[in-house]
Amino acid sequence: MELNKIGLSLGFLCFVFLHGVLADCSTATRKVHRYNFILRETSFTRLCTTKKMLTVNGKWPGPKIQVCKGDTAFVHVHNAGKYGVTIHWHGVKQPRNPWSDGPENVTQCPIQPGKSFTYEVTFSDEEGTVWWHAHSDWSRATVHGAIVVLPANGTTYPFRKPDAEQLLILGEWYNGDLKEIIDNATETGAAPAESNAYTINGQPGFPNKCSKETTYRLHVQYGKTYLLRLINAVMNEEMFFGIANHKLTVVAQDGAYIKPITTNYIMTSPGQTFDILLTANQPPSYYYIAASPFFDAGSIATYDSSNTSAILEYTGIFAPPASPPYPSLPNITDRAAADSFTNRLRALASPAHQINVPKKINKRLFVTVSLNQILCPGATCGGPNGNRLSSSLNNISFATSTIDILQAYYRSLPGVFTKDFPDRPPYVFNYTGDVGDNTLFTHQGTNVTMINYGAAVEIVFQGTNVEDGEFHPMHLHGYSFYSVGTGYGNYDEITSPKTYNLKDPPEVNTVALPRNGWVAIRFIANNPGVWFLHCHLERHASWGMGTVLIVKNGPTKETSIRPPPPNMPRCS
Ligand code: C2O
Ligand code: CU
Repeated sequence: MELNKIGLSLGFLCFVFLHGVLADCSTATRKVHRYNFILRETSFTRLCTTKKMLTVNGKWPGPKIQVCKGDTAFVHVHNAGKYGVTIHWHGVKQPRNPWSDGPENVTQCPIQPGKSFTYEVTFSDEEGTVWWHAHSDWSRATVHGAIVVLPANGTTYPFRKPDAEQLLILGEWYNGDLKEIIDNATETGAAPAESNAYTINGQPGFPNKCSKETTYRLHVQYGKTYLLRLINAVMNEEMFFGIANHKLTVVAQDGAYIKPITTNYIMTSPGQTFDILLTANQPPSYYYIAASPFFDAGSIATYDSSNTSAILEYTGIFAPPASPPYPSLPNITDRAAADSFTNRLRALASPAHQINVPKKINKRLFVTVSLNQILCPGATCGGPNGNRLSSSLNNISFATSTIDILQAYYRSLPGVFTKDFPDRPPYVFNYTGDVGDNTLFTHQGTNVTMINYGAAVEIVFQGTNVEDGEFHPMHLHGYSFYSVGTGYGNYDEITSPKTYNLKDPPEVNTVALPRNGWVAIRFIANNPGVWFLHCHLERHASWGMGTVLIVKNGPTKETSIRPPPPNMPRCS
């Protein structure tokens, strides 16, 4: 019927229609790229609801940045919106240049309405897909886009060159205004509203209301191989993702290559990116591409349980199915399915893509990751028992300072932060068992960890059952790190390290801490700066699930923070 008509006409009109023809760096001599980003409120309609929302250049998802490995991009951001915003380059290490990293009041004050700031985005060893997003309030829901880093001139992909490439950005649509949602939640202490739909490239798709006609369509030609760059820009949930009747071959994660994995589905946490090879080898037809949430938590948290879909549409002449096949994705609470995907991830670790996992550690942090409450006088707040919802790392809920920590550190301004983030939990308890009430209420503070330049760092994140055990995608700015071990229950200093993979652990910037489990990461602190470390679930981050690592300068200019650019946004 309807799909039928579209299929036939597209078959005639678009038979040599190839989206996203593959670019490469063989002729590119341009090492410096320039982009203009204008932040402005733009009208969008989804689910038959029209609203204005903050975008870059009127687009959602926003514009793509494309560079070759090691290039530099200058992104001039002008804020024509209504409130202050910053932009972060998620997964770009920004060597020695935290000034352009972006988290609000951590490395800069926001770009106020009417003002501009030029970010210098410095690429180093990233290769594959990373992304950019706003790092103020909840504006990243609508202010985000892809960053594609192609192999440098003279090098190739560590797999057969795909015929074309395509971005797939998972997002979330809220009928309400994002700023109002988070401002409300902060004021009342209650949980912020859930999204109304998930999206693929900005479209909710079937089976969401008012979405069928605008479903995103990915056109493919029979026999060709596509590099899909999948970005999880969702705010608050892990997602399963798959394409009906097609196998996916995952070749990179977070801008680093992995040993190829062939799978029917993947599980992706907010903040993560996956590069996936897809060969169009099925009978030409329509097939659903779909994503659905994976949710591992107690009864206390609520979530958007809907699905989102796009259509994989072969070009050519065929009679499309009345209802295309839909991928069978794991159930919303299927922890075993999530783990069985995640546990297969291994760094490529080839001669051309070497890794360097620290073996001898000289700085250790053991960090509990908890949901909490803050006592509300008169029990008049909107959270449990009339208190405020909160969250913490080592029982400190991160309190954002009024001027940025980077500036305070660089200029030695007192009273902005303290250098005493504890490297052990203040109370030792059965973290994942019967936790009692000892740590239910959290402190608030702006406490940072000081790390010597060049230190070999290990951080063990320990999930807890305080308030509610949940899943946490932990993200570090300024670095990627090796995810060397994970397990359920309490980390054991003797037995847990014996299970580590120090040979080919994936090198990532966001790692999934399982519910009531632990995860261990390692890295060499070779990038001086002020780097935010936080849960990439926006709801948890807003409640204070974050902290800051300050990596001190090394002995030389080349191992020290660069001086600030002259035009940093002013802190009011
Ligand atoms: Cu993708 Cu601090 O963020
Ligand atoms: Cu979290």
